[in-house]
Amino acid sequence: MTQFGHFDDAAREYVITRPDTPWPWINYLGTRDFFSLISNTAGGYCFCRDAKFRRILRYRYNGVPMDAGGRYFYIKDGDTVWSPGWKPCKTPLDTYECRHGMGYTRIVGEKAGLRAEVLFFVPPDARCEIHRVKLTNTGKTTKRFQLWSFVEWCLWNASTDMENFQRNLSTGEVEIEPDALYHKTEYRERRDHYAFYGVNRPYDGFDTDRETFMGMYNGFEAPQQVLSGTSGNTVAHGWSPIASHRFDLELAPGASDELIFVLGYVKNPQEAKFTAPGVINKAQARKMLQAYGTPAGADIAFETLKSYWDDILSRFSVASAVPELDRTVNIWNQYQCMITFFFSRSASYFESGIGRGMGFRDSNQDLAGIVHLIPARARQRILDIAATQFPDGGCYHQYQPLTKRGNNDIGGGFNDDPLWLIFGTVAYIKETGDFGILHEKVPFDNKPGTEVSLLEHLKISFAHVTDNLGPHGLPLIGRADWNDCLNLNCFSDNPDESFQTTENKTEGSKAESLMIAGLFVAEGKDFAELLAHPAVAADPKYVAKVRSAVAAMEKAVKAHGWDGEWFLRAYGYYGDKIGSNENEEGKIFIESQGWCTMARIGADEGLCDKALDAAVKHLECEHGLVLNAPAYTRYIKDYGEISSYPQGYKENAGIFCHNNPWVIIGEAMAGRADDVWRHYCKITPAFTKDQSLRKVEPYVFCQMVAGRDAARPGEGKNSWLTGTAAWTWKCVSEFILGIKPQYDGLLIEPCIPVAYGTYKVHRRFRDAEYDLTIRCTGKPGASHFIPYIPGHHTLDIEL
Ligand code: BGC
Ligand code: NOJ
Repeated sequence: MTQFGHFDDAAREYVITRPDTPWPWINYLGTRDFFSLISNTAGGYCFCRDAKFRRILRYRYNGVPMDAGGRYFYIKDGDTVWSPGWKPCKTPLDTYECRHGMGYTRIVGEKAGLRAEVLFFVPPDARCEIHRVKLTNTGKTTKRFQLWSFVEWCLWNASTDMENFQRNLSTGEVEIEPDALYHKTEYRERRDHYAFYGVNRPYDGFDTDRETFMGMYNGFEAPQQVLSGTSGNTVAHGWSPIASHRFDLELAPGASDELIFVLGYVKNPQEAKFTAPGVINKAQARKMLQAYGTPAGADIAFETLKSYWDDILSRFSVASAVPELDRTVNIWNQYQCMITFFFSRSASYFESGIGRGMGFRDSNQDLAGIVHLIPARARQRILDIAATQFPDGGCYHQYQPLTKRGNNDIGGGFNDDPLWLIFGTVAYIKETGDFGILHEKVPFDNKPGTEVSLLEHLKISFAHVTDNLGPHGLPLIGRADWNDCLNLNCFSDNPDESFQTTENKTEGSKAESLMIAGLFVAEGKDFAELLAHPAVAADPKYVAKVRSAVAAMEKAVKAHGWDGEWFLRAYGYYGDKIGSNENEEGKIFIESQGWCTMARIGADEGLCDKALDAAVKHLECEHGLVLNAPAYTRYIKDYGEISSYPQGYKENAGIFCHNNPWVIIGEAMAGRADDVWRHYCKITPAFTKDQSLRKVEPYVFCQMVAGRDAARPGEGKNSWLTGTAAWTWKCVSEFILGIKPQYDGLLIEPCIPVAYGTYKVHRRFRDAEYDLTIRCTGKPGASHFIPYIPGHHTLDIEL
């Protein structure tokens, strides 16, 4: 089995040891406004705040080969041209290594006695990428060689950049200065932002016109200027502006040299855009170049970044007997939760950054992964999300990060959405004890003057379900529930329309969702607990109303949602059963087994155990639990997108990792530790052995792993940006290791096989630090409550 890399836990890095990974293995840089994607061969792009509207570097989707475009360095040493990251030149290297760390990537290439190490990172709170290039002569003779930098500018709007060529090819503008090459397309008119690529020493040549640099018929791997050892010193007018510096260098044996590049973004006040007619105001760029353009400045920035992540990852850690568990919990799962929180589902190597902004349900679920890490940002996110709700409790399915406005193209009508606001808010308050957030005033649809308290938003979220019940007293599904692809009111036979946005025929529809029913019961119980807490002390009549709506839903599920051996998935438009033994395909689905068992519906009558047994029997395969079984083998207009996927992929019987933790948590609540552990190990990448089969990064969860009906079961896709991050975090931290934040303390209630059941946990919780030694002896349902008391506590807990 080919290995492409390994974990270095002490450094919190994943070390890639050969560049030709089965798919680009990427990392993310940035913590606030400025974000970058960077592959193990330095491909990728960056943007400020919004991957669609403020794209800084151009990237080629669907490129051949994959992953074309990035921050490339070219070295010409005699007649050999090579790149430290192997690509784009692909000249074989004597040494190659890429280390993806927390918010940085370090790539080292060595060829014929010349070593180039490039450290890429985005300093916290800065709007730039730093490329720190260290060159060392490791040979015995003096080296004379040349170095070129290269980036290609995107004309800001990543979408029109790819299509409106009749305009784009005439608008490009740059400015050339000794400290930097500036990209200012459209700055002359309405834009107040520009980008620059600067370096901390005078360059020997430059280019800003792509075709001059590349040559009309060359690719990234063989730029004309590099081949000929020159620069064109071009000033781009239209066409495709780039930035490339050239340096003619000399190094004695053993000597090193360092260049620090800063790739930045600046937004100016409207009134201070220019310093002379047509000349952009470069003051802020120069400040950045000064701050980071010295070894000391770059060191400080990198140290600040390290402390940022040290602090984040010092809040929760485990020391167990299982290294795969420890590295997942202590490093990569929490890191992925942060990245997923920052990006929602916008920009990855599977998401173009153009199509989707922040998802209402996605972002609410992402909160569960980061409330213990960055509570202040979680708070702001909750308020931003709530502001995209409508007065009837419905909400925009997505909003644009730049404007924070709901996205009209996709609209609303996904009937699970409102409940996730309760989910997110409860997770936040349990972690922080900040009940005050409930009194924050939040508008509807961002319209000033419509503000009500967040608590009111939660109430109307709850009511949105009870106001939209179907013939069985179960929640109407609307456009779709969590499974975006189960489109029961869509009936599309037009390949040119999107299942997500086509007409939603709810009039007369009987389509009801058991997944929303389970979610409603689980979140309804949480909501009632919140309302009844003395810090909220809601009107007891209202609390009773919530409780009775929950009880009524449980009753409806038991009466109309139980199929005999498992929970039904849904009723269709005409009231037909979906996810029933009566169906030929799609007899059983994972979502309702997960949510109804997490809600403990019918637990006393044995329904939860039966449903979990059925999930194991019908859904489990070698690589995890598939979404539905049997897979749909043909397109069914009444069901929509789910049946559009070939068997074993995505929502049609793929292992949709996001929902595996739902069943695992259901298993934990039922005390089935062996099932919990087995399911968890199957989807957790640190336990995955075959890197070639898995294809995508071995350090992060994927949204989907191909299921048993697929051509290559076990092949991963859609890595990084997935609700799997937050859900596996919730699952492992609260239900496997059993550290459950409560309003007034921590409840310790693990569910782990005794063989792994002795471990230490360090947990920061509000103003308290806990050092816990937990010893599980296998007693069913054992738990221990630790009241919240600020200070440091060391406890030994035997359960
Ligand atoms: C995907 C879903 C996704 C939806 C919305 C579908 O094509 O299969 O996973 O949620 O699009 O973008
Ligand atoms: C991915 C989407 O981001 C999420 O909102 C959806 O729930 C799942 N796919 C399942 O369809």
